[in-house]
Amino acid sequence: MRNFILGVVVTLAVLILGGLGAALLGFLPTNANATPPRFEAHIAMSAVDASADKRASKANSPVLPSAENLIDGMKIYTMNCAGCHGGLDRKPSPQAGSFYPPVPQFVMHPSDDPDWHNNYIIRNGIRYTGMPAWDKVLSEQDIWKVTLFLSHMEKLPPPAQEFWKTTVGVAPPAGGEEHDEHEGHEHH
Ligand code: HEC
Repeated sequence: MRNFILGVVVTLAVLILGGLGAALLGFLPTNANATPPRFEAHIAMSAVDASADKRASKANSPVLPSAENLIDGMKIYTMNCAGCHGGLDRKPSPQAGSFYPPVPQFVMHPSDDPDWHNNYIIRNGIRYTGMPAWDKVLSEQDIWKVTLFLSHMEKLPPPAQEFWKTTVGVAPPAGGEEHDEHEGHEHH
């Protein structure tokens, strides 16, 4: 029994030191311009979902999805998020695939996650990815406005649709359109 336990401890130590050694000797890739394997993307996204589920408040938005608030959300998105997540012109951001994991392109593939989930992620960011926390940059109200914009992109009230069309010359996505699968990104 004693030898068995010793065997387990030694094996674990060898694995941990081997992993550390491989990392410190430069054997692990650290480049961002690669596509994560499916299993890795799946495990990582499930971990993010489970962590948000455990920590996020499930409170409803204190901000109403009025045309005015959604237009504010659209402006906040364009100024802070479009560079990574894709602009209102419905073209992918040139750097979409330059992050590891890649950046979800929300205008091309609108988010179907609940507002509390997106709100938690926007406020706190996602560790080990390019997704920053916005709690020190945007007010609580503005974080909710951009959260609502993400979930209402395909069902904007007419004044917000009009604003979108006149500012970029392209119509907003309409609900029911066919969406391609998220690239390297699992849907939940
Ligand atoms: C520097 C690039 C960058 C900027 C700027 C950025 N994001 Fe992200 N964002 C990312 C990356 C990369 C991910 C993907 C992380 C992952 O797959 O786990 C992400 C993920 C997300 C998610 C989670 C998607 C999901 O499937 O759960 C939300 C919501 C989000 N971003 C919203 C925003 C909003 C809103 C803004 C602007 C206020 C913003 N992001 C700005 C890079 C960025």
